[in-house]
Amino acid sequence: MPNVTHEKHHFGHLYEWPAGGHEWSSPWYSAPDQWVHTIYRRIFNLLPTRFVLEIAPGMGRWTPHLLNYCSHYAGIDIAERCIEHCRRAYGQLHSRPTFLVGDGLSLAGIPDNSVSLVFSFDSLVHVDFDCIASYAPEIYRVLEPGGRAFVHHSNLGEYVKDGELTVEPAYRRDPTVTAELAAGVFQGAGLVSLVHEKFQWCQSEPFGDCFSLLAKPKAGAAVPIQDPTQKIFYNNSFREEVAYCRLLGSRYTAATGV
Ligand SMILES: C[S@@+](CC[C@H](N)C(=O)[O-])C[C@H]1O[C@@H](n2cnc3c(N)ncnc32)[C@H](O)[C@@H]1O
Repeated sequence: MPNVTHEKHHFGHLYEWPAGGHEWSSPWYSAPDQWVHTIYRRIFNLLPTRFVLEIAPGMGRWTPHLLNYCSHYAGIDIAERCIEHCRRAYGQLHSRPTFLVGDGLSLAGIPDNSVSLVFSFDSLVHVDFDCIASYAPEIYRVLEPGGRAFVHHSNLGEYVKDGELTVEPAYRRDPTVTAELAAGVFQGAGLVSLVHEKFQWCQSEPFGDCFSLLAKPKAGAAVPIQDPTQKIFYNNSFREEVAYCRLLGSRYTAATGV
């Protein structure tokens, strides 16, 4: 059984959200620094775009940034408290972003072939393989032909040997997910792997995280026969990326007001 109930309780009730999620951006200095240096750097070629669907926006740390780059935005999260907050904070904007409470496994409420970019960052790292496997065909269903998905998920399963985790668990990454397993279910759903980047989150030694960049083939296009694991690479420089971002943020962002 996927761990949706646990996550819903954690983020909907237990977690206090002291700064609306911005507390997790301090290693980068600030959320805008993290957006520019880590997120936008990886997806700028896909922006601006028409319709962005964010899976698990939480309190909307990335929502204002994504809203700058699309004409329609929707966010879907399992925590009602988060969705209520996002509706209050952003729902009245001119572009009328929409926020839905999801079941944690499907993208019910989002029409087929409608989304140009599915985006998820710092959320699906906590969900298990069954959840990723459930979302994969849903991402395919909602993407328009030629659409892309940028999905941040766990790779901690790489460090499970004979059923035991061989490293210290950190940052609540899920141990049932690996980049290879995720690439397999994305491919099984019809999505084409463009990049699978394994990296070390903040202070962690294991490469417990992965960014997967995926595409839904254009209508009528031949789907390339590929081994999606060929698109996997280890980014040994992610922790330096974060440190450099923080250095610049502590000077430039600090001097200009965030
Ligand atoms: C760590 S917070 C991050 C929120 C946001 N992405 C950010 O970076 O600020 C994780 C969010 O994922 C949501 N979540 C967890 N599992 C989910 C699932 N299976 N489907 C949709 N949302 C989920 C939680 O409710 C929570 O809002």
